[in-house]
Amino acid sequence: MSRAPIYLTTPIYYVNDNPHIGHAYTSLATDVLARWKRLQGHPVFFLTGTDEHGQKVEKAARDAGMEPQAFTDQVSQSFRVLAEKMNFSHDDFIRTTEKRHYAACQALWERLIANGEIYLGHYEGWYAVRDEAFYGPDELTERDGVKYAPSGAPVEWVREPSYFFRLEKWREELLRRYDLPAGHPEAIEVLPESRRNEVKAFVKSGLQDLSISRTSFTWGIPVPGDPAHVMYVWLDALTNYITAAGYPDENAEKWGFWPADVHFVGKDIVRFHAIYWPAFLMAAGIKPAKRVFAHGWWTIEGQKMSKSLGNAIDPLALIEEFGLDALRYFLLREVPFGNDGDFARKALIGRLNGELADGLGNLAQRTLSLIQRNCEGHLPAPADIAEADRTFMAQLDTLSTTVGKHLDDQQFHLALEAVMAVVRDANGYITVQAPWALKKTDLVRMAVVLRHLHTAIRAFATVLQPFMPDGMAKLLDQLGVPADARGLEDLATPLPEGTVLPAPSPLFMKIQDAA
Ligand code: MSP
Repeated sequence: MSRAPIYLTTPIYYVNDNPHIGHAYTSLATDVLARWKRLQGHPVFFLTGTDEHGQKVEKAARDAGMEPQAFTDQVSQSFRVLAEKMNFSHDDFIRTTEKRHYAACQALWERLIANGEIYLGHYEGWYAVRDEAFYGPDELTERDGVKYAPSGAPVEWVREPSYFFRLEKWREELLRRYDLPAGHPEAIEVLPESRRNEVKAFVKSGLQDLSISRTSFTWGIPVPGDPAHVMYVWLDALTNYITAAGYPDENAEKWGFWPADVHFVGKDIVRFHAIYWPAFLMAAGIKPAKRVFAHGWWTIEGQKMSKSLGNAIDPLALIEEFGLDALRYFLLREVPFGNDGDFARKALIGRLNGELADGLGNLAQRTLSLIQRNCEGHLPAPADIAEADRTFMAQLDTLSTTVGKHLDDQQFHLALEAVMAVVRDANGYITVQAPWALKKTDLVRMAVVLRHLHTAIRAFATVLQPFMPDGMAKLLDQLGVPADARGLEDLATPLPEGTVLPAPSPLFMKIQDAA
């Protein structure tokens, strides 16, 4: 059976700053869903990259005493390194300074012109370079003579000739699509619901045509036929999602992935993804993405993460200290996806020690050492499920469906909670059944119990692969599961009796917190 293609995207990251934990978070969520969809057998296209134009990046380059291109080459590379260290499984890494992207942006622009969606006018209003966004006067607050956007970014008065996109015209159509049921071919889903309501309220209150070109700087993609203008950086940036799918070549193989299934974004950039982007696409006669999911923001030990506080957390240092699997697990386990959360060392250590080392790790270590010691390292035969095993084993039948359902809703924390609930039960089961004691009283029953535990741990390791690819590969090795039998559907086929298992070694090390 061939499965539907799945297209997942991260935002493309501004290269004005070095990567921190907030950036790693958006991509991690995307990575886990991409890996899960591959495990289910879907063809997946997972895109990430860097957003390299605009005034903010130009200024960062100037501050660093570098030419924008050399500067972006350097910082873009640090996002590639982060992606590698986090073990992200993206299929493409796009940079907006690439030729293919210029071609896509200019083609999109020309299509919008041809469709009568763009006109030349004059822009006069408030602009925040930090957000690369325009704001209405009613959105601003003033302190010490300086005006600020709701995001806290200072705004400046801008007056220049500008091309405009007829955004207002798409207001009704956007509202209609937000309200269509999920899965409807024209639906634009914005999740979680609180964000959808926010977006709807904003659109309802009225949209103004959007200024989509600038003349006061040059670090951007020239407007076709009018090179005094560069494209507004958000029009340029959002277009990355179709560039990578082959646009403007709608016969490209990759184009089969469009429209994207989920754009993962942070809550600060919902407006761009859920209002401007679908409007641009509809105006160009292209289907908008099916879903935008906005996650919350991390604070650090209770404080906002900021350059001035110097408290931005470098994910590479955390990987070094706690290991990649623990970090990946913690980020998606600790906070409901969609909510804000606080990053505290203590909480990370608590999850690592309690759920990974004592929970899953200990269960695997106990089971596998007993098989090693008492069964000479050979996997016992598949066994019937006795009454005493029924409650525990029944949960395994539905585990991957439950996890899949939560992941289809981007509820990563619920998926992990569902697995951990059965891990807790498995630890209860091993304690009650005490296979170490059965060694002296009932060897047959001992083998049955160990086989059931092996089956359970194999299921845990299989469904947890997207979250902790390294550790779960190691665990599946220790369980004797061949590399080509690690998909979800393989869980239905028991490993043969007598499979030789290697000597186990601990998966997770507990951390003694000095702090
Ligand atoms: N370049 C734009 C996106 C263009 S997409 C067409 C941009 N870049 S960004 O680098 O500033 O932010 C990228 C992502 O990182 C956003 O989704 C943002 O929400 C996320 N985070 C940045 N700081 C964060 C936290 N403190 N916590 C969680 N995520 C945060 O916006």
